[in-house]
Amino acid sequence: MRAVITLLLGLLLSPGPREQGERGTGTSSPGIAEETPQTAETCAACHEEQVTGTAAGPHGLAMKRSSESLFQNSCVACHGNAAAHLESPAKENIRRVPGVAACVSCHAASGNVSLSSPAHARGQVACLSCHASGHKKPGSTPLLIAGSHDLCGSCHMEQKSATLLPYAHRDGRRPFECKNCHSVHGKGRQGRLLDARNGGACIDCHTDLAGPFVFPHAPRETGGACVTCHVPHGSTNPRMLTRRSISSLCLECHTSLGSSHDQTKPRYRNCTTCHIAIHGSNHDPKLFDE
Ligand code: HEC
Ligand code: HEC
Ligand code: HEC
Ligand code: HEC
Ligand code: HEC
Ligand code: HEC
Ligand code: HEC
Ligand code: HEC
Ligand code: HEC
Ligand code: HEC
Repeated sequence: MRAVITLLLGLLLSPGPREQGERGTGTSSPGIAEETPQTAETCAACHEEQVTGTAAGPHGLAMKRSSESLFQNSCVACHGNAAAHLESPAKENIRRVPGVAACVSCHAASGNVSLSSPAHARGQVACLSCHASGHKKPGSTPLLIAGSHDLCGSCHMEQKSATLLPYAHRDGRRPFECKNCHSVHGKGRQGRLLDARNGGACIDCHTDLAGPFVFPHAPRETGGACVTCHVPHGSTNPRMLTRRSISSLCLECHTSLGSSHDQTKPRYRNCTTCHIAIHGSNHDPKLFDE
């Protein structure tokens, strides 16, 4: 909390966006700027809608839980020094949309909000690509423009539409939220995707497949884990498999089964009728039985 306030004071004392160099807060310029505190209360005289909207919403309430003064100072924390604007109110002399630095001036102190996907940082996906300002009721929690399915899907259309395929979780109806499997903040470089390499995001729910098994099926234990054989978002193949038929999936790796598995005989084509414990077995090395 102390760190938040210190940072905030730093912001207040630094020159505003349009007045760098010329008119720091130290110079005695005429008008009201010197004396008028740059608080929400001051702004409310002309921007009542934004002030009351913020105060009643989750962001304002969260700030007020920290302290009333944090809330009072929040307008300029996001919009920058408003001295020039208070002196001569116009939209040209104040920043409308805050940059990442404004958010981080408070949030770096209160938790880990770094982006777990470097691709988002590289792709210029900023805080406000996903989060709302808090002036109006946000689309979803926590302070999100929309629920993650629509929010993430607005940029990742391919993945969103895959979750609506008939061979997807819940048969494509009421799909899981993207954030069931992905985390945007924290939890490692790629969020829970990294865990997924070991089955992580999947075995949170499919706990029965978590193992360890006495006789694991090797691909379960290495590199790609679940996504070696399954498409995570949805597929045109049953069981969300990467291949249309199970045998072609198996034969991709098991290329030399020999005469014991005569593939001209239909009986041998349906691999999982015999190798039932395809994810690993505690009883049988050939995966006949779980
Ligand atoms: C005396 C009235 C007055 C006060 C006090 C005032 N503003 Fe404004 N503000 C305006 C006017 C007028 C505009 C321009 C509105 C327009 O052109 O649509 C404006 C526009 C803005 C904009 C939008 C800029 C844009 O590019 O669209 C922001 C952000 C803003 N004010 C923030 C603040 C903040 C923060 C405070 C308090 C520190 C504040 N204002 C205090 C009158 C005021
Ligand atoms: C978390 C950052 C943040 C805080 C805090 C914040 N604003 Fe804003 N404000 C924005 C963003 C972003 C916009 C652009 C429109 C939007 O997304 O709502 C905006 C837009 C505005 C506008 C332009 C009108 C509009 O709705 O587009 C005004 C005026 C304004 N803010 C005033 C204020 C005042 C007064 C406060 C203090 C209660 C404040 N803002 C606090 C982020 C913030
Ligand atoms: C004046 C300080 C301040 C600024 C600036 C600020 N925040 Fe916050 N915000 C807080 C506080 C305090 C909380 C509540 C504690 C927490 O979650 O860290 C909060 C909470 C949040 C939450 C969680 C809300 C919930 O419902 O749980 C989100 C999301 C958020 N802020 C995003 C942003 C974004 C994005 C920006 C920049 C556009 C921003 N904040 C700018 C102080 C600030
Ligand atoms: C790609 C979209 C996206 C971007 C970009 C993003 N966030 Fe978030 N943020 C989320 C989602 C989704 C959640 C909810 C996480 C959850 O529920 O697992 C969240 C949660 C939060 C929270 C709530 C507290 C917490 O850690 O759970 C805060 C605060 C926050 N974000 C701040 C920020 C700030 C500051 C930035 C910019 C540095 C930012 N976010 C950028 C999507 C995003
Ligand atoms: C404003 C657009 C935008 C939004 C909203 C957005 N993303 Fe992204 N995302 C990108 C861009 C751009 C990239 C990097 C380019 C690419 O690989 O497509 C990316 C990359 C990714 C990656 C690949 C990660 C990597 O490091 O390779 C994942 C996973 C991802 N996003 C998940 C999400 C999730 C989950 C959400 C919602 C919480 C979300 N995105 C919201 C634009 C967005
Ligand atoms: C059931 C878990 C799950 C859900 C739900 C989920 N994802 Fe994924 N997603 C994954 C896994 C696992 C990967 C890694 C795939 C790989 O490594 O081959 C991934 C990869 C991605 C990537 C990287 C590119 C790619 O396709 O490999 C993006 C972008 C992405 N997901 C976006 C989304 C979006 C947007 C949503 C919501 C509409 C979503 N995901 C829902 C598990 C999920
Ligand atoms: C949020 C919990 C959850 C997560 C995370 C999850 N699943 Fe599922 N999964 C389920 C549930 C519940 C079902 C059963 C029915 C349904 O909803 O489709 C299921 C069913 C399945 C099915 C069978 C579909 C069918 O046609 O019978 C496959 C395959 C599957 N999941 C693979 C995965 C993979 C791979 C991952 C990780 C990328 C994953 N799941 C992550 C909850 C989850
Ligand atoms: C070697 C390939 C392969 C790997 C790796 C794999 N699966 Fe499967 N999975 C299959 C096949 C094949 C089926 C279909 C079995 C059938 O229908 O007879 C299946 C079926 C499923 C089902 C449907 C219910 C069931 O048990 O039959 C779920 C759920 C599932 N897999 C989840 C997962 C999860 C979670 C992981 C990672 C921990 C994973 N799978 C890894 C090949 C694989
Ligand atoms: C990504 C490659 C891959 C895929 C796909 C795959 N497997 Fe395997 N499987 C392996 C590897 C590697 C081993 C370990 C081989 C060894 O130890 O000699 C193995 C082991 C086995 C074993 C035990 C063999 C033994 O000698 O104990 C059986 C049975 C088996 N797989 C059946 C299947 C079936 C059925 C499928 C299709 C559902 C399948 N596999 C898909 C790579 C794969
Ligand atoms: C009718 C039951 C049956 C079906 C169907 C079947 N297998 Fe087998 N599989 C066996 C038996 C029995 C063994 C043990 C053979 C032995 O020990 O000589 C075996 C052994 C294996 C082995 C261990 C290596 C080896 O050659 O001994 C692999 C790998 C394997 N099967 C993969 C597959 C694949 C892939 C499919 C589908 C294309 C499949 N099986 C279909 C019964 C079956």
